[in-house]
Amino acid sequence: MTTSLLSSRSSPAKAIEQNAKASADFAAKLAETESLLRRAAAEFAPVTQASSLGAEDVVITHLINRLQVDIPVFVLETGALHTETLALLERTQAHSRAPINVFRPVHESVIQFVRDKGQDAIYKSIELRKECCGIRKMVPLARALKGQKAWITGLRQEQSAARAEVPLLDESEVATKSLYKFNPLAQWTWGDVWHYIATNQVDYNPLHDQFFPSIGCAPCTRAISLGEEFRAGRWWWEDEAAKECGLHVKK
Ligand code: ADX
Ligand code: SF4
Repeated sequence: MTTSLLSSRSSPAKAIEQNAKASADFAAKLAETESLLRRAAAEFAPVTQASSLGAEDVVITHLINRLQVDIPVFVLETGALHTETLALLERTQAHSRAPINVFRPVHESVIQFVRDKGQDAIYKSIELRKECCGIRKMVPLARALKGQKAWITGLRQEQSAARAEVPLLDESEVATKSLYKFNPLAQWTWGDVWHYIATNQVDYNPLHDQFFPSIGCAPCTRAISLGEEFRAGRWWWEDEAAKECGLHVKK
């Protein structure tokens, strides 16, 4: 075996090398995504992108910047994100044309939860875990979406069985919340996402190079092994059905 082969095996495989592979109809999907983003900005203002800084979301922010559409971005900085995610947030704030707005939880609520329920509460029951998601994500999300007509997410149909029906434009919360939800990558594959990142040299979270396809808060995200499902590293100690934080759960 040659030295170069040995060294390439001992270094971690990069997410781009492993995943970038466009589908046959990628050009058509990209055109549809671009037209949806233009339409969102023109007809659904005020509209904002929700970004977790994961692979899908950095693609959408890149498109927003490239198309120069008037769509600010928001990040829910839960106070429990990985240092890699926080570093990417700083780089994005420094380089993005679109404003990057950061929403944080109410400090006192976090302190009180940890004091009353304990440091490891999130692993003890689904109720306690959801209470944490409520404090760190849902309350800040309500602030981020206040006054918005629409929001844009990186949800994709391929991500899980629960997301298999995700539409490009979700109107199911218009009646109750007067809020439209765009999922412009709904039909993209994981290969499409990485093809876009590779061809446009998009900055991305280095955790993706360490087998973290789906990245949330640090205490609730782990790397996945070969053959495991896309979201297997999220809330891995819970049943499949419970594995959503509430951001996209319909009442
Ligand atoms: S989650 O509901 O399990 O957390 P996931 O991590 O798959 O969702 O992300 C789905 C979409 O939700 C992202 O593409 C993004 O639009 C939004 N989202 C998730 N986490 C955040 C966050 N911390 N800040 C802003 N948006 C987020
Ligand atoms: Fe809390 Fe984990 Fe939910 Fe983050 S993902 S808000 S740490 S329970």
